[in-house]
Amino acid sequence: MSNITFTMIKPDAVADGHTGAILGKIAEAGFKIKAMKLTQLTVADAKKFYEIHAERPFYGELVNFMSSGPIVAAVLEKDNAVQDFRSLIGATNPAEAAEGTIRKMFARSVGENAVHGSDSDENAQIEANFHFSGREIF
Ligand code: RTP
Ligand code: MG
Repeated sequence: MSNITFTMIKPDAVADGHTGAILGKIAEAGFKIKAMKLTQLTVADAKKFYEIHAERPFYGELVNFMSSGPIVAAVLEKDNAVQDFRSLIGATNPAEAAEGTIRKMFARSVGENAVHGSDSDENAQIEANFHFSGREIF
């Protein structure tokens, strides 16, 4: 499974009713869904998932936000999945994201920015395994 990435539709976008539209953009861009579920992170889950940002000033806010409501977690497959998905979602700050990107269209702010996308093949694998067991990935 080298051409995979991991995504979450974050609590803001699920609450704002954008789940269907975002999944449509993902499908249109040629990603195949390998695993998917509606779930909610505990505070401990969110802390662990974003551990790499523990020293950043926004860590507490990020953990509170990511555990604040349901998310959609998914594993996606496509050639060049990690890079192509990050192009599809756009810059972290929606104000700086290109027209037509998911964050430009659906994010509320730099913190509440609609979607997560893995930043490397290695992290995609780690993040997929964090959320899904082997028999939930097809
Ligand atoms: P992600 O990991 O969620 O796909 O986002 P990313 O790579 O584009 O950005 P990253 O630097 O990994 O930051 C992770 C998440 O932390 C929140 N953040 N808030 N308030 C702020 O200045 C700030 N900066 C980052 C965002 O939710 C970002 O996606
Ligand atoms: Mg990141």
